[in-house]
Amino acid sequence: MQALSLQRIREALAGLVVGPFGEHIHVYERVGSTNDVLKEMAAQGAPEGTLVIAEEQTAGRGRMGRTWVAPPGSSLLMSVLFRTSLPLTHLYRPVMACGLAVAEACEEEEGIPTVEIKWPNDLLIGGRKFTGILPEGAFVGERLAWVVVGIGVNVNQTFEASDPLAATATSLRMVSGHEHDRAALLARVLVRLNHWRQYLEDEALLDAWRRRCVTLGRHVRVETPEGVLEGLAEALDEGGMLWLREASGQLRPIAAGEATLLP
Ligand code: BTN
Repeated sequence: MQALSLQRIREALAGLVVGPFGEHIHVYERVGSTNDVLKEMAAQGAPEGTLVIAEEQTAGRGRMGRTWVAPPGSSLLMSVLFRTSLPLTHLYRPVMACGLAVAEACEEEEGIPTVEIKWPNDLLIGGRKFTGILPEGAFVGERLAWVVVGIGVNVNQTFEASDPLAATATSLRMVSGHEHDRAALLARVLVRLNHWRQYLEDEALLDAWRRRCVTLGRHVRVETPEGVLEGLAEALDEGGMLWLREASGQLRPIAAGEATLLP
């Protein structure tokens, strides 16, 4: 697998329009977590669009207290900085922009079919997860100051049958049957991110996200920090909350959790 370097990324970006997302790119061989590196930079005043990308993470974090592990040089392990004064309730807008950007960029890869989104922010191909997204933000009063969106895309790794993740996870290479150029893929992600960045406050972002979402309209079980809920995933509101219709008829908004689609 070819190593990612700033030079390769710059070559892949040549001639493409990526706005602020191409201006401050930091490439590391190994970090604890790209989110932690970028949060530190954000606190020091790093500008909108700053990108941290690493070949390896020694303390990669997933949602709900989980770890995120990937073989060195196999994935896109990256974090992107949004500086926005959106209301706190809109923390998920940058996450949606990132999810759509990765989905669209991956669909441009040879041999990759439709990418679906499972609420709140997993990207799936054929029902298996290949991308996870972890936002972390800072706020001033009722408004966001910045949001670091961490993105892990399984690109060229494979999962052995003995790996517990094999039943639920996949990678672009496992789907397409060939290796993918990570620098070219990253460049396309940044092009689409620059597009969706303009729509953070627009209904068009929500509409595009809802169209890809496999959770809406399905019966789901959701593990939330407050316990497990089950019901029909009826709607996604403008802050990214899932509205679940329970068997009792009660409608409940869910801000965060892990959803399983029920048959
Ligand atoms: C999930 O649990 O689905 C979210 C996974 C997010 C992983 C990415 S990899 C790059 C960034 N740095 C981290 O420590 N986590 C995110």
